[in-house]
Amino acid sequence: MKIKAIIPAAGFGTRFLPTTKAVPKELLPIIDKPAIQYIVEEGVNSGIKDFVIITNKYKKAIEDHFDKFLELSNALKNNNKEILLQDIDKVIEKAKFLFIKQHEQLGLGHAISMARPAFSDEHLAIFLPDDIFSCQTPAMSQLIKVAIQEKCNVIAVQEVPKEDVSRYGIIDVRRQFTPNLFQVKDLVEKPARNAAPSNLAIVGRYVLSPGIFESLEDLQAGSGGEIQLTDGIQNLLFSGEKVFAYKIQGERFDAGTIVGWLKTNIEFALKHPKYSQEIQRLLSNLDRDLLIMQGKAEALKPKNQKLFF
Ligand code: G1P
Repeated sequence: MKIKAIIPAAGFGTRFLPTTKAVPKELLPIIDKPAIQYIVEEGVNSGIKDFVIITNKYKKAIEDHFDKFLELSNALKNNNKEILLQDIDKVIEKAKFLFIKQHEQLGLGHAISMARPAFSDEHLAIFLPDDIFSCQTPAMSQLIKVAIQEKCNVIAVQEVPKEDVSRYGIIDVRRQFTPNLFQVKDLVEKPARNAAPSNLAIVGRYVLSPGIFESLEDLQAGSGGEIQLTDGIQNLLFSGEKVFAYKIQGERFDAGTIVGWLKTNIEFALKHPKYSQEIQRLLSNLDRDLLIMQGKAEALKPKNQKLFF
């Protein structure tokens, strides 16, 4: 299957202001590298070589991150520190990048349609960079496998609590094939809790046929007054294309809110060989402080001993 990645990264990152006034949200660190680097690495590890990144004119730093910086590389080499750029340089060597600017923030569907000139007959592997996955098999690679086997469009889904459905695109299931694989009957962007057809939420990875570009054409603004990718996929479905949904095997982190980003950092630190021990210590100390703050010092008291506070 011929496939190219699209990463929409043109948003203003308002939830992270003022930090994101000058620094693109996608470059905020998750432990030791920017969030968007995890996304591109997932793509490269899924066998993708071409990346189209949708940005805006204030996000030049994303282009710079995926470009060689020879002066810095040479300076690091002279100090035997070239290991510091090793991972990003590997990505730059394996992948090709094209940056397309979205001049108006008209929605995710509009951002995806901006990539049309970069595509001929390739499938689209869409990565929403707020969603970061930790999986044994890269999340996108799981979707590509299904797309090839079933010869269809595939979107990643995960079950979410009923009270959260209105934050996501939600699918309506026509048929369930295995515990993880579904045929989609319909899909709706950010439904009200009572109107949601299921609790299977779209979670930031899609493999779509190039027919999606036509399905996005002339689309009216939908949920939130924006041109929605979910509505484009609905058009694709109604035009007769098959759409499957696959429950990603692995953990998903939402790095698109301050608390989610912090949680992602903590979870990734706990798994990081260099930082894991220190963070475990920090967390157990914090846990103790928290119990004390909540007046639960009793729970910490060793048996038959008095605490003097
Ligand atoms: C977008 C999509 C939505 C999807 C979500 C996953 O929404 O429009 O269908 O469920 O990402 O994170 P956003 O979070 O950009 O509003």
